[in-house]
Amino acid sequence: PAARGKPALTLYLADPRGFCAGVVRAIEIVELALKKWGAPVYVRHEIVHNRHVVEELRSKGAVFVEELDECPDDRPVIFSAHGVPKAVPAEAARREMLYVDATCPLVSKVHIEAERHAARGRQIVMIGHAGHPETVGTMGQLPVGEVVLVETVEDVARLEPRDPETLAYITQTTLSVDDTAEIVRALVARFPQILGPTKEDICYATTNRQEAVKEMAPHIDALLVVGAPNSSNSRRLVEVGRAAGCGYAMLVQTAADIDWRAIEGVASVGISAGASAPEVLVQGVVEAFEARFECHIERVVSAEENVAFKVPRVLREPA
Ligand code: F3S
Repeated sequence: PAARGKPALTLYLADPRGFCAGVVRAIEIVELALKKWGAPVYVRHEIVHNRHVVEELRSKGAVFVEELDECPDDRPVIFSAHGVPKAVPAEAARREMLYVDATCPLVSKVHIEAERHAARGRQIVMIGHAGHPETVGTMGQLPVGEVVLVETVEDVARLEPRDPETLAYITQTTLSVDDTAEIVRALVARFPQILGPTKEDICYATTNRQEAVKEMAPHIDALLVVGAPNSSNSRRLVEVGRAAGCGYAMLVQTAADIDWRAIEGVASVGISAGASAPEVLVQGVVEAFEARFECHIERVVSAEENVAFKVPRVLREPA
């Protein structure tokens, strides 16, 4: 369409958005492994939940598999940022494989918390989403039955712990801050003795991205979150937007997913991105808007982030 008469639109860009320190580190691990050992390098599960990231690494020689038994013994394998059950590195060690664990340090921290509770004889309640690899990995730090999963307040009512007096809870790192607080309240009401983390398990990146969406919600008619359908923290951003009053809030993987008819006539759109969504995809969305609208861009800054994690030592040493 001709530039003349493009409708005006204010684009609010959430800041922070997109990549977190754990995702940056995980991608760097795969890239450094490819440099150090050459292709192919195997990666167990999507290194982070984003197709664009996976495709780019695949083009450089990474081979993505779901299980260790799909990997040969004699090639390096990397475990994804979400974490893995203990049985996975144990099996890799048994097969004498070269493996690098790209589990986010903030997920590993929860693993350690779980082990500490178990060592003191506490059964653990994990707040998380069934089947998500992070939940599977965290629960898999301990023998079956030591960690029970709750997803909702209703699940808390149904819990039948071994001993209500020796309980602790942990959480997935990418949950909704508000929904989790509600579940924790229900846990504490039912089990007043339950122990929890001193500082919560939901990570800084999840918290900050949700906060930025909440801050921009009153200004926007529609919210688009760049992220993958299997990305927990991205989906939570959509929910946070809806809960904060955005009548229209949608997840888009790329600009191609935008439903232009749905946002016809709106005056302001908010854009955020999940922790595994690359900025190039966000820029693609911004450009798609600029092609159709006379855009005025506003940043909504809710926090400054300066977190960075080192890659494992084996990848810091020369080949
Ligand atoms: Fe780690 Fe949080 Fe990112 S747990 S991978 S920093 S979303």
